[in-house]
Amino acid sequence: METGSILERLMSSVMTELSDKRRVHTLGVRDTALALADRYGADPEKAEIAALAHDLYRGLRGEELNKTVKELGLLDKYLDNPNLAHGKIAAIMLEKKYGVEDREILDAVAYHTTGRAGMSTLEKVVFLADAIEPGRNYPGVEEVREAAEKGLDEGCLRSMLGTIEHVQDQGAYLDEDTIEAAEFLKENK
Ligand SMILES: [Fe+2]
Ligand SMILES: [Fe+2]
Repeated sequence: METGSILERLMSSVMTELSDKRRVHTLGVRDTALALADRYGADPEKAEIAALAHDLYRGLRGEELNKTVKELGLLDKYLDNPNLAHGKIAAIMLEKKYGVEDREILDAVAYHTTGRAGMSTLEKVVFLADAIEPGRNYPGVEEVREAAEKGLDEGCLRSMLGTIEHVQDQGAYLDEDTIEAAEFLKENK
């Protein structure tokens, strides 16, 4: 893997393909992921690649989204669900279009929205960075930031519990990966 050129290509996509808001968010996730990687012991280059790629397909909507979901062979549950689909799409495209073969990076991108049971340190770093980057401003974000100061698992669990509560309040679809991820972290405290 030629990390240099992959990072350059990803950065150019971030600068040209994302909306202003999403570009600022992505660069915030990159900076936060690098800080968490340093603190909790993950590979900084892998963290940077995953962070830059994680939301590249967040803007896909409607027919374009559904066409992509079908073309890539993703499950039907991702149809009309940009929130759940975009990470899975980004992971596949990161491999196909950018030539990233490292499974850990691809998984960090694929599971950045839901988490899952048995996440690697890199997966947790990207998941948590997405939840607490400086531009994030949602009810409960300060609690997640405080938990992240105590530990990577604490931060991820706080974020997941907040997501579960929020999604259930809204009566929206909650992915089983998030429930299993939270259970796993509780059991392994
Ligand atoms: Fe995302
Ligand atoms: Fe994000």
